[in-house]
Amino acid sequence: MINNNYKNLKDSYLFSDIAKRVASFTSANPDKKVIRMGIGDVTLPLCTSVVNAMKSACDEMSNAATFKGYGPEQGYDFLRNAIVDYYKEQDNVELAADEVFISDGAKSDIGNITDLFSDDVNILIPDPVYPVYVDSNIMLNRNIILADANEENGFLPMPDQSVKADIVYLCSPNNPTGAVYTKEQLKIWVDYAKTNNMIILFDAAYESFIVDKDLPRSIFEIEGAKECAIEFCSFSKTAGFTGTRCGYTVVPKSLVVEGMNLNKMWLRRQTTKFNGVPYIVQKGAYAVFTSEGQKEIRANIDTYRENAKIMAETLTAKGFKFTGGINSPYLWFKCPNNMGSWEFFDFLLNNAAVVGTPGAGFGKNGEGWFRLTAFGSKENTIEAMDRLSKLTL
Ligand code: MLT
Repeated sequence: MINNNYKNLKDSYLFSDIAKRVASFTSANPDKKVIRMGIGDVTLPLCTSVVNAMKSACDEMSNAATFKGYGPEQGYDFLRNAIVDYYKEQDNVELAADEVFISDGAKSDIGNITDLFSDDVNILIPDPVYPVYVDSNIMLNRNIILADANEENGFLPMPDQSVKADIVYLCSPNNPTGAVYTKEQLKIWVDYAKTNNMIILFDAAYESFIVDKDLPRSIFEIEGAKECAIEFCSFSKTAGFTGTRCGYTVVPKSLVVEGMNLNKMWLRRQTTKFNGVPYIVQKGAYAVFTSEGQKEIRANIDTYRENAKIMAETLTAKGFKFTGGINSPYLWFKCPNNMGSWEFFDFLLNNAAVVGTPGAGFGKNGEGWFRLTAFGSKENTIEAMDRLSKLTL
C-alpha cells in the first residue's frame, strides 16, 4: 500500500536537518546571535516595482469587473511573453510563449518532471549537487548513476562515453559549488545527449548571477539544445521570491522522444495536476522584467555579489581553497585541517555562531567541503567573516 522507496531516503531533507541542529544550538545559547549562511534564502525585500504590481493586482482582485478566478495552468500570456523577450534580449534565444510554463518554483518542477519518464529510466546525476534531483528519483526507485564532480574536474563533470544513461541533470551556475559550465563544455553535453538519445534537465536557477559575458546563462544558447533539453528557472534568487513562489520551465516543442512531444506531455501534466500560480504573484513576476524592475533587482543582486566578494577575501586570507562566489551566490571551500563537513558545521556553529551547509549533504564527494551563501545582509556577512577570520584553526 505504501511507497517503500521512501525508506531509502535519508530521515529528513538536508535543510530541515540543519534547521533542527540550529534550533537546538539557539535554545542552549539564547544570548548568542546566530548568523545564517546555510540555506540559500534571500534577505533583501521584494523590490518596489514588484510590490506595487502586486498591490495593484490585489486591487483588481477586489473588484468584480477585474477579478480573476482560475487562470491558465501554464501561466498568463503577459508573463510568458515577458520571459520570451528576456531570453531574446539576454541570450539571443528564440522561444515561443507556449514553450514557457509558469510554476510555483523550480524545486516543484524539478521534482514533478519525473512524471514524464518511465520507471526503468537511467538517471545520471552529478555528485555533489542540489539534493532534490537524487531524492525525487529515489522516491520513484529510478536507477541513479552518479557522476563525480570533484576538485580534479573543477566540480564540472563531463560526459563519460562508458556510462549509458537516459537523463542527466546539470546545474549551472552550480548549487552547491558555484562552478559554471562554459559554452564549449555545454556543447559537448548537448552533442553527447543527442548522440545517445538523452534528455538534459538543466537547472538555471542562478543564471542571473553570471557576470562573465562569455558564460552561458541558458542551455538554449547552445546549438541543438532545443532537441534534447528542458530548462528550469526561478524568481527566487533573482528577484527575492523565495517566499512569494514563482518560477518557470522551458520545454521546447522540438523535444520529441520516442514519438512523444514533451511539451505536450508537460502541458497535459500541468493542466491535470496544477492550477497555476496566483495572478497577484504573476503580476509581481511580470514587474521584474520592466526596465525599473530590472534596475531594482540588479541592485539587489549586486549587494549579494558584494557580500560574496567580502567572503572570498576572507577565505583567501584564511588560506581556504574555494570555488564559486563570482558568477554564483555560493562559496564552496575545503574544510580546514581535514575536518569532515558536519564536524566543521558543528565547529563553526559552536565557535562562531555561524551556520553554513555541510558539503556532505550534497553527496559523497561533498564530504570535507562546506558551502556558505552570500544572501545575508551586508552587516551580517561582515560580522560572520570577522568571526571566521578570528577563529583559531
Ligand atoms: C539551497 O540552499 O540550496 C537552496 O536554497 C535550496 C532551494 O533553492 O530549494
